[in-house]
Amino acid sequence: MSEAEAEWEATDKYLLDPYLDWIKGEGIPIVEDFGVDLFAVETKPWARMGTKGAAVHLKGRGDFMSLFLVDLAPGGKSDQQRHLFEEVVYVIDGHGSTTVVAADGRKHTFEWGPKSLFALPLNATYQHFNGSGTESARLCSGTNLPMMMNIFHSEGFIFDNPYEFPERVGAADYFAGEGEFLPVKPGRHMWETNFVPSLSNMELQGWQNRGAGGTSIVFALADGLMHSHTSEMPVGTYKKGHRHGADFHVFCVHGTGYSLLWYNPDDEYVRVDWRHGVVFAPPEGMFHQHFNTDPSSARYLAIALGSQRYPFTESKRSHFDKGVDTSLKDGGNQIEYEDQNPRIHKIYLEELAKTGAESKMGQFIDESKY
Ligand SMILES: [Fe+2]
Repeated sequence: MSEAEAEWEATDKYLLDPYLDWIKGEGIPIVEDFGVDLFAVETKPWARMGTKGAAVHLKGRGDFMSLFLVDLAPGGKSDQQRHLFEEVVYVIDGHGSTTVVAADGRKHTFEWGPKSLFALPLNATYQHFNGSGTESARLCSGTNLPMMMNIFHSEGFIFDNPYEFPERVGAADYFAGEGEFLPVKPGRHMWETNFVPSLSNMELQGWQNRGAGGTSIVFALADGLMHSHTSEMPVGTYKKGHRHGADFHVFCVHGTGYSLLWYNPDDEYVRVDWRHGVVFAPPEGMFHQHFNTDPSSARYLAIALGSQRYPFTESKRSHFDKGVDTSLKDGGNQIEYEDQNPRIHKIYLEELAKTGAESKMGQFIDESKY
């Protein structure tokens, strides 16, 4: 490298990423990996939050999203927050409450526990409280701060902005765990709310096309751009393989199993084993498939940027339209069971033998060959 080139490399006028610069300045651990066990991430004092925290950057996080972890000490609380980016919060551990002061001055407080999901309406003031005097609590947020910081590259505009968004707050009972079922079509039915007390108990809807008795529901939270949905696989089943753009952050909610990821049919699979606390994000265009090996059902949550209501990108628009559950043969991005590589089912049967769960895939796949 010439001296002149070295000088360019060292300047702050070239190939900037204002979000990454900002997060480095926050002084919290930044974990980067393909998949992460959120229970194992170390957190450190985060002056902005008044709690401990960490940032989690998955390889497949895409351009718009990041994850934050916030730890509330026993009896602790966060400082009041307000910011011009969206945040969908998934409770990893602990019990507590969050107070949201809406644009109209109304104050909403709701109590959460493990596997609760909630949204913080855009630029509303909020504060988290740990409800236990003896146990800590850990929250994981999916946010679109990278997108917002890279558009405006102004910390003041994002964290010190008085603009109100009353239309984002929704009905008062949305904070009480109530909501509205919005029928669309299988795999796209929506539940509009701000707070889901437990993803484990949420009623799901059938989604035949994605395979093997799976069920799901899509959330419309705080009228936002952040997408979230939860899906379940019955005992002894797995979903069909598929691919899409980056940034679907997949969290195991309950059950145990694994996911395989690959680009080309003959590649060695990347494998992620999951249980509650594990999150991973399939990178752009990488095929992936989720397998339940648990003696009971397995359920996961996915958070992404670009929602069914506001897809934001053409990639998300086509994904939510037909892409996700239309066969590759018909121009979609899904691999039907009859088209999948036979080693997929062989691995699955080997894994089931270890857990003792019985395959229920015989109705979709001729298992006599295995
Ligand atoms: Fe996916």
